[in-house]
Amino acid sequence: MCGIVAIASKQNDIADLLLDGLTNLEYRGYDSAGIALLSEQQLWRQRCIGSVKNLRDKLQLPKMNAHFGIAHTRWAVRGGITEANAHPQSDGKTVVVHNGIIENTNDLMKCIPDAIWESQTDTEIVVHLISHFVNKGQSFYEATRNTIKMLVGTFALVILHKNFPNVMIATRKVNPLSIGKMHNIGFFISSDVSMAPVDSFVDLADNEICMISHCDNEFSVKFFDSEDKELPYKIWRKANKITTSSSKGDFADFTLKEINEQPNVIQKCIETLDNGDYKHVSEMMKNKDFINFFGCGSSRYAGLIGKYLYEKFICFTNVTIPSEFNYGYMRNPNESLNFCLSQSGETLDTLRSLEFIIDSRDVVVITNVANSTMSKLAIEHSKPIIDICAGQELSVVSTKAFTAQLAVIVSMLIEFVRLSYSESEAEYLRDKFGEVPKMLKNVLQMNFDVQWLLESSTILFLGRGICYPIALEGALKLKEAAYLHAEGLPAGEMKHGPLALIDEQSVCIALAPGYDNFEKIASNVYEVIARKGKVMLFTDEVGLSQFAESNSDLVKVITLPNCMDVQVAFVYSVAVQLLAYQVAKSRGTNIDRPRNLAKSVTVE
Ligand code: AGP
Repeated sequence: MCGIVAIASKQNDIADLLLDGLTNLEYRGYDSAGIALLSEQQLWRQRCIGSVKNLRDKLQLPKMNAHFGIAHTRWAVRGGITEANAHPQSDGKTVVVHNGIIENTNDLMKCIPDAIWESQTDTEIVVHLISHFVNKGQSFYEATRNTIKMLVGTFALVILHKNFPNVMIATRKVNPLSIGKMHNIGFFISSDVSMAPVDSFVDLADNEICMISHCDNEFSVKFFDSEDKELPYKIWRKANKITTSSSKGDFADFTLKEINEQPNVIQKCIETLDNGDYKHVSEMMKNKDFINFFGCGSSRYAGLIGKYLYEKFICFTNVTIPSEFNYGYMRNPNESLNFCLSQSGETLDTLRSLEFIIDSRDVVVITNVANSTMSKLAIEHSKPIIDICAGQELSVVSTKAFTAQLAVIVSMLIEFVRLSYSESEAEYLRDKFGEVPKMLKNVLQMNFDVQWLLESSTILFLGRGICYPIALEGALKLKEAAYLHAEGLPAGEMKHGPLALIDEQSVCIALAPGYDNFEKIASNVYEVIARKGKVMLFTDEVGLSQFAESNSDLVKVITLPNCMDVQVAFVYSVAVQLLAYQVAKSRGTNIDRPRNLAKSVTVE
């Protein structure tokens, strides 16, 4: 979602640094971009719809000796995708980049009736309020503080003002913002410093204000807490830079690269299991009667797969949709153990749920980003964090992070079985888990015939048991990557309504491993064929030996490795990812950055 980059620099390549910074944030997803520079004499800004490359190509940089610059990638929330709505937002005096959402914009607009509005964004209210307070004689700092006190919602803001050309201000509430030091050059502010050219960094706390000033060709920085007290010091942490340049390697895109990384990612998780890293969590699970997963999108589906596995071995397991839980529609028992699943650790819906329960419930945060907002919250409350160790995932379409979450779920289960059942049962599961990387390597060689899907009007993924959440995940992948409408269903539900959709144009993708209840899903497949619907049957040799319609023109059989439930979770998930990828390729979509979507969803 929106990305912020801001720079205070002694050098004159500030625009290049800003654009490189935006390029590094592209993975978050966005639909417009913009940049502004401020010098003693001039405030300059340029924006455009589309990519950072568009902005770079269009750039008409004036000759100016700017020490401060701000830039932004916007993912539209309030106000359409137009140049006027792109950030930086400005009234010619104040200039602002913003992540988050100001929920009381309409009320605040009444406080400044004379303001002339340029956009439909909520961000513009910040611009007008700051200008309003400065016009009344307040300092830049006071105007910022008084403005943020009035805001309801979430924000990360970096602000410049023409009357104060030697100062840049940054502040935040909920949306992350970090201040980095560039040795001998100045400061670099970003929504994600992991790829920024900084030596060390600090994270701003909620409602803190950071003020960077320029004097005699040197920069100084001050931090103020929410009570306006200057903080005597901040602890600067050493930056461990992640570089993404050329990291696609030989792959056509990040999605394919990340799909192919999965055998190694799972292997790494198996090694972590062997190191005994899950013992602590399995102790936490031991006396629980209720386990709950919170997660959105694919993370939710990973939780649903966890539900099928945990209910078999541990206890009643629920999966809660954070955006439904947060506003009082659902309950969570006092004695529950809650796993918050989030690849990014930033998803605002999940973060809100975590905030609600963190003081009163047992919670474990499972994420891929050690420095994420959820990880920091867990550390502050001394709650355990599990790093899924998938390595940075850049494609908006989650693949390796999803299976790494599954690997953590399975690892916790194996440790629980060791603790509560028997060493031999745990070892049996461990051995089966250990076979997964090799199985995935085989799946990754497969090429699917996707023609039926390209011509189809209705695509239904069908699964039973653990394959039902995989069906949901398969449908989500196809929507995201290939822009095709697909739904995931428990196969047994077909006859209760969805069967009405079946005709010659429809395709069902049946996920049907042979080891469990194959005959039941086979019946659902026969019902589809009988109504002239087409079926892509993902099964194995055990399933195939029981299938009566393998010669039908309406059926394409895809034979996956024989596997049991712990293995099915990975093998069938990777198969549907690859299928979605291959369909998306045939349709020529922007797979790494699908339209309208963002990698890190920081609005509710
Ligand atoms: C998956 O392909 C999606 N891009 C999306 O559903 C994602 O899983 C969801 O937004 C949750 O993200 P998180 O894991 O970072 O919290």
